[in-house]
Amino acid sequence: MTMFAKDGRLSETTQIAPLAPAAFREALGHFATGITVMTTQDEVEGRYGVTATSFASLSLDPPLVQWSLRNAAYSLPIFIRSGRFAVNILAADQEGVSRCFATADVDRFAGLKIEEGLGGVPLIGGAAAWIECALERTLPGGDHTILVGRVLRTRTFGRRPLLHWRGNYLPIEDDRHAFRRNA
Ligand SMILES: Cc1cc2nc3c(=O)[nH]c(=O)nc-3n(C[C@H](O)[C@H](O)[C@H](O)COP(=O)(O)O)c2cc1C
Repeated sequence: MTMFAKDGRLSETTQIAPLAPAAFREALGHFATGITVMTTQDEVEGRYGVTATSFASLSLDPPLVQWSLRNAAYSLPIFIRSGRFAVNILAADQEGVSRCFATADVDRFAGLKIEEGLGGVPLIGGAAAWIECALERTLPGGDHTILVGRVLRTRTFGRRPLLHWRGNYLPIEDDRHAFRRNA
């Protein structure tokens, strides 16, 4: 049982039950995120991409972003070998794209309008924004690997984003905060 001292701090001697994985996932799911597809290009595999919600900004100067990929993911060595990736921030109507890039044994790029970015990295048409990166470093992160990217180029398209919350895709019904297109 969790015990708190009178001042509200967790007592050092307190024993707490091991964290239940389901409770951990449930709590994390309350953090609403956008959805990205991370794309790359590698001489062996050609173009590749995976859906990821672990994306976050990291530093303004230098401009860095980060995301994490399962150590066991097929795509991890591809991203590392390539040394480049692009963050495709999905737009509200790209739920199917999100699902597809998280599905095994399908042609994930089928039917998509693709533009070629720096180093031949594919950029997904219809996205809300593209953030093109050089892989700056990788860091261990438990059963995931953290990929830190140095941002080389960005483009934004002013589309409303696809959102994810508690395992569901969320529509945005409020246009008040629509922003100006600067692409
Ligand atoms: C909404 C959503 C978010 C995801 N976010 C991540 C993530 O941040 N990191 C990760 O390793 N996998 C994430 N996944 C799972 C991968 O997209 C999925 O395992 C994919 O098949 C990995 O590609 P690969 O097996 O070709 O390496 C997410 C899946 C979905 C549907």
